[in-house]
Amino acid sequence: MSEPLRLEIILGTVRPVRFGPVVADWFFRQAANDPRFDIGLIDLAEFSLPSDLTMDSDGAQAFQQRIAAADVIVAVTPEYNHSTSGALKDAFDLLKREWRAKPVGFVAYGGLSGGLRAVEHLRQIVAELHMVSVREQVSFHQAKKQFDESGETANGPAIDAVGRMLNQLDWWGRHLRDARSGDPYPG
Ligand SMILES: Cc1cc2nc3c(=O)[nH]c(=O)nc-3n(C[C@H](O)[C@H](O)[C@H](O)COP(=O)(O)O)c2cc1C
Repeated sequence: MSEPLRLEIILGTVRPVRFGPVVADWFFRQAANDPRFDIGLIDLAEFSLPSDLTMDSDGAQAFQQRIAAADVIVAVTPEYNHSTSGALKDAFDLLKREWRAKPVGFVAYGGLSGGLRAVEHLRQIVAELHMVSVREQVSFHQAKKQFDESGETANGPAIDAVGRMLNQLDWWGRHLRDARSGDPYPG
C-alpha cells in the first residue's frame, strides 16, 4: 500500500457554544479507522485566522503549513443563512496555492436543510481554488437530534456516505498526489 494520504479535517465553526465539534469528532473517529489516511483536525476556533487575510500571525502561518502538507481536505460545515460560516469562507480565502489540485469532501449539518445549501456554495468556492470536490457528501439535518450523549449517531445513510466519500477522496488523493509530484500544477 502507498504512503497514507494526509487528510486535514477543518472544523468550520468558531462560536463559543457550538455543535460542530460533535460532528467533526464523530467524522474523525470514522476516518481514523481507515489506514489509507493519516488524519489531522484543524479547529478554526483554535487558529484564530485573521479576517483581513493577512499572513503575519502565528495562526495564519500554522494553518498555511498544515494545508500545504495536506493531500486531502474534509470541511465540516454548518449552514448559516443558507450558506457556510464566515469563518470557513475566510479560511478558504486566506490561502491560494496550498489548496490547488487537491480533493475536498464535505460533512454538513444544520437545521432542516442538513447543510446542503452550504455545501452547494462551498463547491463554487473550492472550484475557484482549483480543488476537486468529490460528489459524495455527509449530511445531518436537525443534527442535534441525531447524536447521542456520547457523540455517536445511528444515521445509516450518513455512516454509509462516509465510506463512499473516503473511497472517492482516496482515489483523487492518490492520483493528484502523484500528479503534483511529477508535474507541478500550472494554476
Ligand atoms: C446565524 C445562524 C444561521 C442559521 N441558518 C440556518 C439555515 O439557513 N439553515 C439551517 O438549516 N440551519 C440554520 N442554522 C442552524 C445551524 O445550522 C445549527 O444551529 C448548527 O448547529 C450551527 O452550527 P454550530 O452550532 O457549530 O455553530 C443557523 C444558525 C445560526 C446561528
